Amino acid sequence: MNKPTPKHSNQRESIGRVQAPTAVVVLAAGSGTRMRSKLTKVLHPICGRSMIGQVITAAAFVHPKKVIAVIGNGREQVGPHILEQVPDALLAVQETQDGTGHAVRVAIDALREGVGTTSGTIVVMAGDTPLLQGETLAGLVAAHEGSGRAMTILTGEVADPFGYGRIIRDDVGEVVEIVEENDATPEQAAVHEINSGIFAFDGDFLADALSRISNDNAKGEYYLTDVVAIAREVGRSVGAHGIDDVMQIEGANDRAQLAGLAAELNRRTLDRWMKDGVTVVDPANTWVDVTVWLARDVVLKPGVQLHGRTTVGEDAVIGPDCTLTDVVVGERACVVRTHGSGAIVGADATVGPFAYLRPGTVLGVNGKIGTFVETKNADIADGAKVPHLSYVGDAEIGEGANIGAGTIFANYDGVDKHRTKIGKHAKTGSNNTFVAPIEVGDGAVTGGGTVVRRDVPPGALAVSAGPQRTIKDWVQRKRQGSLAADAANAALAASAVLEQSAPSHIEPPEVAEHADEGGQSDQ
Ligand code: UD1
Ligand code: CA
Repeated sequence: MNKPTPKHSNQRESIGRVQAPTAVVVLAAGSGTRMRSKLTKVLHPICGRSMIGQVITAAAFVHPKKVIAVIGNGREQVGPHILEQVPDALLAVQETQDGTGHAVRVAIDALREGVGTTSGTIVVMAGDTPLLQGETLAGLVAAHEGSGRAMTILTGEVADPFGYGRIIRDDVGEVVEIVEENDATPEQAAVHEINSGIFAFDGDFLADALSRISNDNAKGEYYLTDVVAIAREVGRSVGAHGIDDVMQIEGANDRAQLAGLAAELNRRTLDRWMKDGVTVVDPANTWVDVTVWLARDVVLKPGVQLHGRTTVGEDAVIGPDCTLTDVVVGERACVVRTHGSGAIVGADATVGPFAYLRPGTVLGVNGKIGTFVETKNADIADGAKVPHLSYVGDAEIGEGANIGAGTIFANYDGVDKHRTKIGKHAKTGSNNTFVAPIEVGDGAVTGGGTVVRRDVPPGALAVSAGPQRTIKDWVQRKRQGSLAADAANAALAASAVLEQSAPSHIEPPEVAEHADEGGQSDQ
């Protein structure tokens, strides 16, 4: 698998030797009551796309001249959602859900009106088969094209055919009928070859046949499947194109089925990436959206979820335990226990553990966003580091700069957001607050605990913490009899004894030298 573009994107008129279909009709007017959801069934997400998004992606693979979506329930959401993906799709509104045959008739009317013809191949499919692959549709179209048949049905042999239409064949194996569950005799119900609900039709035949079907059946609906019998009546043949990989034609009707199909789609996505040279340490605990792109020798450790337009460069290591949405990770970068969205992580950079990258975070090559650090709209240049316990918002941090532990970029005055700029190779002390708008010049330094309210010129040291006052024996006086007072007294008594007995030539232990105002944390 490579970049998520269809393999045949340059072949608009044909797929290999196959002609582009006149239209693909996607049926999406049903309500999907079994989902028990406010959200229309076909809009439920699966591995980074909506169900219908998956189906439309498969449809795009055969480059139809027109995509027609039949919408009804939830049309205010479903319609715009489809147009986002296929701006020139025709939306055909089915006011009442009178069955799949009625739905396709509505689509044919829209096609006649919008394009002016029904000739050529018309593919019909449901909006709720999210594992369907474009290659499978292309195979169906190829099997149908030039066969002279009225229609070709995509069929599969399933262990449990319950709920599906059964493919009924005659003595010589010709398809004569599709019988729905509710209308099947026990003998017919025992057939395991089922109708996927995905067909390639001779368009003119379909348009004519749809005007002849009735709703005289158990459900009182117009069944698309009834056109099979009509084909036979008018002396046209009907073909079946079998698929072994039956999960591709499985519909998600409730949330349990959706979860099952999502797990399978994820497994398939991971399998493809592993074949392409990605290490997935624990596939059962790794989720990668179908829209994600990974380079060779990427390592995904357990507990990783990659969503949306996330891409990961060669030799980068992600995880354990990261959730990244629309994050671009550079080559050899290392991202550990991080939650991120809308961020860019440069090559050789390190992030986490326990980092929160919010939108607009850009970390340069070899940069570092460390532990318990939150960033937003932050441009952190090459080699710059924010190692510990900090919030960096609306900021620009220059190349090679180091931000001390526990630093807050105070970007919000309650009304407006303001920017902070830290210069190249600046070193800021621990526990600083940068009150934006503020600028710290190149090579400047700030002391520990500084609240930076005024710009700091290049090379300057800024300190705002006052000199330390030490009031001796305060605890013993104010907290008499407390454990703290007892401890202090004991310590003072011990050091007095030491002082008396110590030979005078022993120096006191050396105190580590800090930068002027101390408290910087590098790394
Ligand atoms: C249908 C087929 C069945 C097949 C099964 C495969 C018919 C009569 N039956 O049954 O043979 O095995 O699919 O999954 O075709 N829809 C509309 N408008 C309507 C009715 C349905 O747009 O008036 C849409 C639904 O939103 C759905 C699709 O058509 O996307 C299929 O409808 P559904 O009710 O799920 O059909 P099944 O009973 O599953
Ligand atoms: Ca169905």
